[in-house]
Amino acid sequence: TVKYRKDYRPSQYLIKHTDLKFQLFDSHTLVNSELKIEKNPLDKSDVLEPLVLDGLELELQQVSVDGNELSKDEYEATDNHLTINNVSEKFTLNLQVKIYPQKNKSLEGLYTSGGKFCTQCEAEGFRKITYYLDRPEIMSEFKVRIEGDKAAYPLLLSNGNPLTRGDMSDGRHFVEWHDPFPKPSYLFALVAGDLDCLTDSFTTMSGREVKLELYVDKGKLDQCRFAMDSLIESMRWDEEKFGREYDLDLYMIVAVSDFNMGAMENKGLNVFNTKYVLANKKTATDADFEGVERVIAHEYFHNWTGNRVTCRDWFQLSLKEGLTVFRDQKFSEDMQSKAVQRIDQVKIIRSSQFAEDSGPMAHSIRPDSYIEMNNFYTVTVYNKGAEVIRMMHTLLGEQGFRAGMDLYFERHDGQAVTCEDFICAMEDANQKDWALFRNWYRQAGTPEVKVQLESLGNGKFELQFAQSCPATPGQETKKPFMIPVKIGFINAQGDVAKFRLSDSDDVCGETLFVMTEENQTLTIHSDNEVLIPSLLRDFSAPVKLKFEYDQSQLATLFASDPNSFNRWDAGQSLMTKILLNNEDEISEPDLEILKNSFAQLLGDEQLDNSLKALAVILPEISSLIGRSEKINVDRLFNKHRQLKKHIGQSLEHTWFSIYNTTSGDQPSDRKLRNVALDYMMVANDEQHFELAATQQTRADNMTDELSALQTIANSTEGYKSDYINQFYQKWKDEELVMDKWFSAQVINDDESIIEHVNALLNHEKFSIENPNKVRAVITAFISGNLPQFHNATGAGYELLADTIIRLNAINPQIAAGLSKQFNQWKKLDGKRQALIKEQLERIKAVDNLSNDVYEVVEKSLNM
Ligand code: ARG
Ligand code: ZN
Repeated sequence: TVKYRKDYRPSQYLIKHTDLKFQLFDSHTLVNSELKIEKNPLDKSDVLEPLVLDGLELELQQVSVDGNELSKDEYEATDNHLTINNVSEKFTLNLQVKIYPQKNKSLEGLYTSGGKFCTQCEAEGFRKITYYLDRPEIMSEFKVRIEGDKAAYPLLLSNGNPLTRGDMSDGRHFVEWHDPFPKPSYLFALVAGDLDCLTDSFTTMSGREVKLELYVDKGKLDQCRFAMDSLIESMRWDEEKFGREYDLDLYMIVAVSDFNMGAMENKGLNVFNTKYVLANKKTATDADFEGVERVIAHEYFHNWTGNRVTCRDWFQLSLKEGLTVFRDQKFSEDMQSKAVQRIDQVKIIRSSQFAEDSGPMAHSIRPDSYIEMNNFYTVTVYNKGAEVIRMMHTLLGEQGFRAGMDLYFERHDGQAVTCEDFICAMEDANQKDWALFRNWYRQAGTPEVKVQLESLGNGKFELQFAQSCPATPGQETKKPFMIPVKIGFINAQGDVAKFRLSDSDDVCGETLFVMTEENQTLTIHSDNEVLIPSLLRDFSAPVKLKFEYDQSQLATLFASDPNSFNRWDAGQSLMTKILLNNEDEISEPDLEILKNSFAQLLGDEQLDNSLKALAVILPEISSLIGRSEKINVDRLFNKHRQLKKHIGQSLEHTWFSIYNTTSGDQPSDRKLRNVALDYMMVANDEQHFELAATQQTRADNMTDELSALQTIANSTEGYKSDYINQFYQKWKDEELVMDKWFSAQVINDDESIIEHVNALLNHEKFSIENPNKVRAVITAFISGNLPQFHNATGAGYELLADTIIRLNAINPQIAAGLSKQFNQWKKLDGKRQALIKEQLERIKAVDNLSNDVYEVVEKSLNM
């Protein structure tokens, strides 16, 4: 059934106190709950409706109201609900249910991973633990008692502060917890197990000492320091930038191997995917370190943007996620290189979000409807949501934005609120009227901004802007968006061209033009005869910007735009133009322009090594497909190969010298050196194989070791399997490194790869029940090897459909995530469309198809 945002109505009941008792056993768990329920003062109706609690896969054992056990005719338990017919305005409900965490492979609710119990409740997983009003606006004070075997589960953790602990008979023990902050059920957590712990502490700005505890599997303590330091940095940063202090005396993080997403911000007890905790130089790449730092920060920042102020209903998810992603992005920009961070952020928008916006699942950052909420933890809600917050920041400036945040916390601390409440706080703190801005919350689709520059003579120029937005499912026509466009100019020589806006005397180098209508014009004056516009600097809005640059203008921008982001972007546009034009091959002059531009850029001594590396990496195929309406993929794949080979070969000496002379040991140095190695191998893998092999064997860090393995696995050299095996022997007991080993082997652009992927699915280290493994093999293949995923035989599609069907019965969330990989199908040629349609129909016909997969496949077929 479809749920609609417009149907929202407050719950008739509230749960003021929630007392839980968990009895953990080897075969099952008993959950007792005592709920103090009362009528919601917001509900004005005078009839008391039956109380309807959510519940899924529960065995109900006992029900009593105010101490009286109910008989079978006084309540009704169905697959999804427990209904209690005659209730009063205030009463106590006691329930006992039996659940089977050891059999729970959906990784939602209470489940086991690597011998420990853990939970994942967001969005609607709490209902798999007990019957409850499982919606985020129901905020309750929780007390939790956990009982379990003392030897197997010496640690029994839940949210808040520990109250008491003690031994029981039969080698069992218990711990009781209390969380003083009322919270929604989705923030509940329980962990039980035998784990190692790294402890530290943090003194908050008001002088309170907070104990920090990081729990990991035995033997992994040497991979924890970085995560702990990241937590401490995050706590400090949120105090400095937003004045936000941590509120409990204890902050715990537990890392588990089996986890559907990255991590979860449960109050005082975060549960993390090991991928975002464990890291040391030997086992983790530089990119992994960045991921750990980002996700640790993200979950920490949720304590204020998510937990203290939470969402009224799940349609408001971007209220906490868009905002918290924006906050973690700002944090990473402060910790790392700002331009590099921005480029990485924009790559995600262009490669995944634009695709989502142009497919069957397109939705606004505040969706209007859903069948399965878990399908809406998307790049749109998260990353486009963050872009929308970023636009507010751009429009208000640092101080105005901070004033809005302060007002938001002042008004809504302790409440469950809406995106509208957030916008109002921003408006009110800054005396703004953002009626138009709200269209970013209402409308799906990627706006297009077409810009033309006209010289009117006498140093007068006109920039003409036109915006439009394509139709998306359920939204045929769109209203204009408020679009901030950051603009600068350079002249034909590549120097900054200063200009003056026609209504001002000030000469400037950059301006922010805010579009509010479909068509608008900006008039400027400049002494330069020729202006090359540098538009949408720093990607100031999540739009597709169209300006008819010629190759030489782009080359000039690529060589000299003072805005680092746009300098990178000019290179991307140059390559995109060449890759997406109607020619079957790339012309000699085009290849020549690229080669010269790259050579010049690589020789620029001012430029940071990671920016150099990013600048010479080709645009991702997924973003080229994402930005197109129809696409000839055969032509695209061929040209992409041709271009990569050309850049490798024509600059082979340059790569070789970069490889040998870039000596630093910073992440940026490794990045550039490894890009050079990759291009050398593309140019001539026979000749450079030894170099890669030596790098793999001698590396003292995972970044270099894995880069070498990747390029080796991708080569045509016969004895590459020696090195793949060597890596395996060295790392077979490190689960996260094994994920990398799997992924390195699925990107080879060769027909035989599908057979190899199938072999990997049967490897002893592979497990279909572990999401990281599924991502390491299947997701890495279908998103990292598009030429073979789209192999004209349809074998790639069949492989994906087989996996979805298998996973549907095990882990619907992961199965549905994979199903989205078919969403671009209507852009392809008729033959491929037919092949994919066949697979979609095969999936749809599966018995017991989960809601999750059904929603994705049905929307895809109906597009
Ligand atoms: N709130 C978590 C985060 O953003 C994500 C949890 C999503 N869980 C899910 N089942 N969709 O950090
Ligand atoms: Zn989040």
